[in-house]
Amino acid sequence: MRIYREKDYDAMSRRAATIIAAQIVAKPDCVLGLATGSSPVGTYKNLVAWNKQGDISFKEVRSVNLDEYYGLSGDHDQSYRYFMQTNLFDHVDIVPENTNVPNGLAQDPAAEGERYEALVASLGYADLQLLGMGRNGHIGFNEPCGEFPLITHLVDLTESTIEANARFFASADDVPKQALSMGIGTIMKARKILVVVSGEDKADAVAKAVQGPITPEVPASILQLHPDVTIVGDEAALSGLK
Ligand code: GLP
Repeated sequence: MRIYREKDYDAMSRRAATIIAAQIVAKPDCVLGLATGSSPVGTYKNLVAWNKQGDISFKEVRSVNLDEYYGLSGDHDQSYRYFMQTNLFDHVDIVPENTNVPNGLAQDPAAEGERYEALVASLGYADLQLLGMGRNGHIGFNEPCGEFPLITHLVDLTESTIEANARFFASADDVPKQALSMGIGTIMKARKILVVVSGEDKADAVAKAVQGPITPEVPASILQLHPDVTIVGDEAALSGLK
């Protein structure tokens, strides 16, 4: 596991973007696993700027997103499809058909989980998977629980996640209670994993994930078993590491 300690959010975002840009340069038709949340917003801003300057191209890139709220359409301004369009896809030369996000309106979520898992498998899984981390150590929407979920599946969100994400909705009651998420198994099949973490409220989760026991109660702790993980954090998020 490599850890980059950056002084603040902007430096974290630049560092993470350089790692993704290097992946695109090395393999222009790579499969990028993408994440949402406030943590990767700055990373995407850098990638958009470098794409506009002509330094990197997404023309051949395929993307698979980690997760989507169950019950929200792609046009809903809090859906993860909408987030990806507005933060990245609409501003770069990626081919829209090459972008994939689970369908939050699927009538049969179990079938949608299987469809999405098969799709990610058919692309050969991610060359590079970008991850944020929840305050409770969740990755994607894999919440703390009794076992590591393997494949894309429907998740019941925890109170902690609903509370943390309520800032984006009119109230906590408006936050969807379920989501479709890649499983831990799907994420671990990525060849490389890049985690971005910022802010003091992540310090405890980061410390447990990196230095605590590997347990599904801290889903990100499984990353200790992956052979190629890079964590890029600001000083506050890494402050709990010994
Ligand atoms: C959500 C997403 C995660 C993300 C987490 C942290 O729950 N499903 O993928 O990592 O939020 O979000 P933020 O980066 O806004 O703290």
